[in-house]
Amino acid sequence: MTDLPADTATVHVPLGDRAYDILIGDGLLARLGELVKPVIRRPRVAIVTDETVAPLYLEAATRSLTAAGIRTDHVILPAGEATKSWDRFGELTGSLLALGLERKDTLIALGGGVVGDITGFAAAVLRRGMDFIQVPTTLLAQVDSSVGGKTGINTAFGKNLIGAFHQPNRVIIDLAFLDTLPVRELQAGYAEVVKYGLIDDPEFFEWLEENGARLRTGDRAAQAYAIRKSCEAKARIVAEDERESGKRALLNLGHTFGHALEAECGYDGTLLHGEGVAIGMAMALDLSARMGIADKADHDRYLAHLQGVNMMGRAAQIKKPMQADVLVAHMAQDKKVDAGQITFILGPIGGARTVRGVDLDLVRAVLHDSLAG
Ligand SMILES: NC(=O)c1ccc[n+]([C@@H]2O[C@H](COP(=O)([O-])OP(=O)(O)OC[C@H]3O[C@@H](n4cnc5c(N)ncnc54)[C@H](O)[C@@H]3O)[C@@H](O)[C@H]2O)c1
Ligand SMILES: [Zn+2]
Repeated sequence: MTDLPADTATVHVPLGDRAYDILIGDGLLARLGELVKPVIRRPRVAIVTDETVAPLYLEAATRSLTAAGIRTDHVILPAGEATKSWDRFGELTGSLLALGLERKDTLIALGGGVVGDITGFAAAVLRRGMDFIQVPTTLLAQVDSSVGGKTGINTAFGKNLIGAFHQPNRVIIDLAFLDTLPVRELQAGYAEVVKYGLIDDPEFFEWLEENGARLRTGDRAAQAYAIRKSCEAKARIVAEDERESGKRALLNLGHTFGHALEAECGYDGTLLHGEGVAIGMAMALDLSARMGIADKADHDRYLAHLQGVNMMGRAAQIKKPMQADVLVAHMAQDKKVDAGQITFILGPIGGARTVRGVDLDLVRAVLHDSLAG
């Protein structure tokens, strides 16, 4: 492989003939061409990005790819969750075909989870499957959505209901992208970082209690460590259960609650995904305590950490009044519902597991308390 700078970390995702590397380092965008070259079949790519990321990074990306002898086109999508729609997907695939891209060419997703998800889905179905490379520019995309091969779009029936498993050929994470990310987006992505500690790594959670706040101040060493730990955790879980028949479901910790909050807030920016997940994980710890499978102290400890990094931990802090019953109804719609039963990921800090058949009165009580502040 290309020689990487000494401070670049590599995380391998061991998936047999779909295995790939995640490269993590400072300033990798400038070296995009040489980092892409070893994993493409023909020297032709199309970058897919959004209107916010394009003015910041498209030129540097194109310059580096072109310098490496790779013919590079691009498609720019509107920024935001609404882009993950059938209409935009139709336009995107149409634009890519109009550019004359062929099966052995490669798509490069340069952006957050929205760009990564729709580009990955386009790669999964265009010409029955093209290669793609993730260049995630948000913290959420760097630690979660760019790894693991879930791709897709939303429908009126709910988020991510249409999609495919399609693994990227490489994930290239430049820490410098985080410098331009709005603090609120950075914090939302941080929820997914904390999630890995809560799932099965209590020592990482402890590290975050000590150092989590450093991620926000552009501390490269802290960012590199937290992102590497997160990618390792995701790679390990995905390698064990690529298509979510078991362990991968643990990655949904806090998400059943969080998705209900998001749905009720209407995906209009009132509540970001990670913000909902942060609150949802507090609810999961509270529910675990009420069911006797975790200590109440874990819930308090987690809430104290959120407060320490200036994040919301309770639904009462969301600028929208909500009702427990309506949130329960949203949960019943969630795609994690199996034969009518809602699946929850519960347990103490560092000991998450799947639990079914939860008493909905307890769930209501948890929601009620969180909404009450
Ligand atoms: N595939 C998966 O496994 C998976 C996992 C988690 C989330 N997701 C999906 O990810 C999406 C959310 O991703 P997201 O939080 O990255 O949102 P996003 O892609 O909408 O990015 C958030 C905002 O930040 C802007 N932005 C991106 N990078 C920037 C940068 N470096 N500097 C300044 N602005 C920048 C974007 O233009 C956008 O406005 C959701 O659609 C969710 O369903 C997918
Ligand atoms: Zn999430």
